Amino acid sequence: MLADKHSITVEPSGIELEVHDGETIMGAALRAGYRWPSLCGGDGTCSICWVEVLSGGRRLSEAGPAERDTLELVPALVRRTRVVRLACQARVQGDVRVRKTGVKPRTSGVSEAPD
Ligand code: FES
Repeated sequence: MLADKHSITVEPSGIELEVHDGETIMGAALRAGYRWPSLCGGDGTCSICWVEVLSGGRRLSEAGPAERDTLELVPALVRRTRVVRLACQARVQGDVRVRKTGVKPRTSGVSEAPD
């Protein structure tokens, strides 16, 4: 039987996320209360959400033509030397480990309003 929940480890911070089968990496992070770098809000058009896949790349959905087009915006040197995916498009089907800087708890850096 296939598991309906998986885990994502986000390096270098070591954030551990529980993800539903078929959920995107970014979707799982947002649901867990994290901010994920993005300009397009998850439309798959800005490329800012890209991650380096450290392990479990075969446990992600295949990149479709639209994702591959957007990944062209990631610097060529990065694409040649690393496995990169869009966090807003790659759907998780098993445990994966990725590298992404700038993933922070949503409240980070926000000061509380005085009473
Ligand atoms: S959030 Fe813009 S491409 Fe993923």
